[in-house]
Amino acid sequence: MERPAWAPPGIDISVPSVSRIYDYYLGGSHNFEVDREAARKVMEFVPGLPKIQQANRAFMRRAVRYAVSEGITQFLDIGSGIPTFGNVHEVAQGAAPEARVLYVDHDPVAVAHSQAVLEGNANAGVLAADLRKPRDILAAPETGSLLDLDRPVALLLVSVLHFVQDTDEPQRAVAELRDALAPGSLLIVSHASYEGIPLPQERVGGAVDVYRDIRNPLVMRTREEIARFFDGFRMVEPGLVSMPEWRPDNPLDQEDPYAFSGFAGVGRKA
Ligand SMILES: C[S@@+](CC[C@H](N)C(=O)[O-])C[C@H]1O[C@@H](n2cnc3c(N)ncnc32)[C@H](O)[C@@H]1O
Repeated sequence: MERPAWAPPGIDISVPSVSRIYDYYLGGSHNFEVDREAARKVMEFVPGLPKIQQANRAFMRRAVRYAVSEGITQFLDIGSGIPTFGNVHEVAQGAAPEARVLYVDHDPVAVAHSQAVLEGNANAGVLAADLRKPRDILAAPETGSLLDLDRPVALLLVSVLHFVQDTDEPQRAVAELRDALAPGSLLIVSHASYEGIPLPQERVGGAVDVYRDIRNPLVMRTREEIARFFDGFRMVEPGLVSMPEWRPDNPLDQEDPYAFSGFAGVGRKA
């Protein structure tokens, strides 16, 4: 079986991973045949998936630029994924060269590739940790050395909360992170939902089943459930909307219904 030099030792390349499937949707090269096979199965049900993912990345970049425009230069990006094009540190440091970015992911390929991309960047780092254990993230030496939690931070939970089951209490994890952040901090979230997707729920259910089968269940939440992650934050205009509707750079291209799937928003801690 193929095992390129970038694959960290110890990973099982016969089991698909969420981060490598996502890398494939985005046109990246850090994925294996098992990942591509799973991705193709998902796309049989939801053919417009790459459009959804591109809309998600574009939202993330606009939200980072918004944060910098609000004077925030510290970023904690949890579930950061395999770096591709237009990563948080590039956007943030492009707008504010002193910006500091800590990436966090529990996937070894995402962590290894982030390390490679960040080599020589003194203001950015990566931590292997799990969103379900926020205290580990907050107490990690990497967090203490890169981020000053007494000053506002932009916390990114972009396209990751839908991989946390209700039994793992994602609401509690977000609340613990929120409580550790200084007033004025921003929470940046995007999340998958059946609402707004231009397909019947049964069809999308087929895609969701693929993730269940690879033991990384995808939790589709309603707009109302997603809004609850912002408890303790005041929504920034225009609120929780479909991804392209969040402060678009250009007039909206309404022609692609897939891009309008899922919800995104930014909240400010009072
Ligand atoms: C769909 S990707 C999103 C990547 C990036 N945030 C973006 O939106 O472009 C989801 C990432 O979340 C990571 N992830 C899933 N569950 C996680 C958890 N409990 N803790 C940390 N990372 C997690 C996966 O490994 C994957 O890299």
